[in-house]
Amino acid sequence: MIDIITASEEIARLRLEIERHNRLYYLEAKPELSDYDFDKLLEKLIALEKLFPDLVTPDSPSQRVGGAITREFPSVQHREPMLSLSNTYSLAEVEEFYNRVKKLLLLEGVEQQEMVAELKFDGVAISLIYQSGLLVRGATRGDGVQGDDITPNIKTIPSVPLRIVDQKGVLVTDGEVEVRGEIFMRKEDFERLNESRPEEERFANPRNATAGTIKLQDSAEVARRRMSFVAYYLKGVKDESTPHLQRLNLLEELGFTTGNHYRLCRELADITSFIEEWAEGRWTLPYETDGVVLKLNDVALWEKIGATSKSPRWAIAYKYAAQQATTVLRDVVFQVGRLGSITPVAELEPVLLAGSTVSRSTLHNFDEIERLGVMLRDRVIIEKSGEVIPKVISVVLEERPEDAAPIELPSHCPECGTPIARAEGEVGYYCPNEEECPAQIRGRLLHFASRNAMDIKSLGKALVEQLVAIKLVRDVGDLYFLQEPQLENLERMGVKSAQNLVRALAESRLKSYERLLYALGIRHVGRATARELSAAYPSFDQLRVASEEELSLVPDIGPVVAKSICDYFAKTSTPELLEKLRLAGLPIGGGEAKAQVNRNFEGLTVLFTGGLERYDRQRASELVAERGGRVVGSVSKKTGMVVAGHDAGSKLEKALKLGVRVVSEDEFEAML
Ligand code: IVH
Repeated sequence: MIDIITASEEIARLRLEIERHNRLYYLEAKPELSDYDFDKLLEKLIALEKLFPDLVTPDSPSQRVGGAITREFPSVQHREPMLSLSNTYSLAEVEEFYNRVKKLLLLEGVEQQEMVAELKFDGVAISLIYQSGLLVRGATRGDGVQGDDITPNIKTIPSVPLRIVDQKGVLVTDGEVEVRGEIFMRKEDFERLNESRPEEERFANPRNATAGTIKLQDSAEVARRRMSFVAYYLKGVKDESTPHLQRLNLLEELGFTTGNHYRLCRELADITSFIEEWAEGRWTLPYETDGVVLKLNDVALWEKIGATSKSPRWAIAYKYAAQQATTVLRDVVFQVGRLGSITPVAELEPVLLAGSTVSRSTLHNFDEIERLGVMLRDRVIIEKSGEVIPKVISVVLEERPEDAAPIELPSHCPECGTPIARAEGEVGYYCPNEEECPAQIRGRLLHFASRNAMDIKSLGKALVEQLVAIKLVRDVGDLYFLQEPQLENLERMGVKSAQNLVRALAESRLKSYERLLYALGIRHVGRATARELSAAYPSFDQLRVASEEELSLVPDIGPVVAKSICDYFAKTSTPELLEKLRLAGLPIGGGEAKAQVNRNFEGLTVLFTGGLERYDRQRASELVAERGGRVVGSVSKKTGMVVAGHDAGSKLEKALKLGVRVVSEDEFEAML
């Protein structure tokens, strides 16, 4: 047992290290650790804090992991209204704004007109309140006067400091400090989130994803989605005349991020060049911006020149027009998704747009083609706004060529030739040949192998295409029965890659039941749903007999999802697939219901040595911890039990010598 002094030193060390890696990841975009190793550090801290609850402080990074379930977000009044900004798309109006401010300043007898230009972050505005340096409240803008108190969710955001340390003593000491800024999702985190969701539930852009996340009731889910924060306003500086630019610098010193791309502008030309520089430059940033915000630097003058009912007179937002380009629609191909949906995709003459070359764009569905009235070989206007994927927004009718041809909706699936169908009440068409359509089989396999599912990196697109084409694999169960000789002669394979794939598949069997549930690709079952389901129904045997009514009682599962799960288990191919997975040794009955675990490891210290067949170390340790036990790294007389796997060595010997109880993996499993 470690003593409290060692523990507090270790806790302090872990906190510093975790905060450092948070900074590297979120502020500097230079991560040094993998997600896995980072989680390990955090787990270590949480475990120590559990042992020494007195050492937990409100600013510990462990407080960011969430867990609180909020039923309702209380309404709170803002200290002063959160105004919005007047917008413009025109440089001429920026000039008018500039001259207007100049006149107002002259009335105040001020000649020197300094403005600060900042980027306009595309997210959701929030206000943070700090008392004696500690974060006490985080609220949404709401109607500007009242917002929602979403503190538990805000605390999960790593770039929101839980404590600010005012080393130079420039902040008010007794009163409060308020920081305002924008919550957003970095492009990378947005893509990761979308990848983890069923296709039909994906967010259109990072802003929507942010708005949809900050009001979730489950703060642990908010934490998993990884949001970021940039600060652009600081109130509570002792010297109230501190200019805005200095306040932005101060925010950085206090541990916030401002994005660091602001600039002091002494004349109009500085403003226009800032706007022009970032028109293209912004595409290289890891997050989305939609314009430039201009603010008067002299904060003391803000109040003097005042605000209209909605927005201040001392600031304006210049918004970049959505980027557009024109190009020619060469062809339309129809793609078949993993769930059978048929999506028309425009093949375009390659054209440069918003920093990248675009040659394809989605047309969403056939109604969209009709709405646009677009024909093959038309000149079209494409646009990239908030969305990551560009879209066709209109046709240049004046330039319609003589040979323009109508786009025909295929009557049969382009992949398998089955007549296509239209789902009742839905805009899209789909291929009903769920079992045999190669595109759907490929889609299911790729989903199964994807990062958030079974994470089988060596199973890529080209390989899946071959495996399906030569009918070596028809469902995900077949993957586990592949033999090296069958793979070696495939294109771009060879002995080494065949070995790697077989090994990767074997390793994937150690993944959790929850992941497997997600990996099956049941319609509407994303990662969060899979998590809930695995807790409520810890094996396929239990899940497959659950009725729609029962399933609807699980948190976050509505009637549509419940029906989809029942439909999945009612399919004739499902029992056969589950049997293959069982034979292959996948965790089809693996999970344990969280609420139902026994506590028969209470107070027991357990040591694992040697390799386990059916669990990885992390999972085995979790299972012990869930049951009240503690995993240790070295054997002593006090060790409660040693689980010896294959090739166990010196630790096993020592345990036997000391007379410590030794069990096999099978016995360990039985105890679970
Ligand atoms: S200052 C009174 N600065 O844009 C001034 N806002 O259209 C308050 N925004 O509600 C806002 N980046 O959500 C400011 N650098 C920035 C910003 C910014 C994004 C958002 C913010 C605000 C909206 C106004």
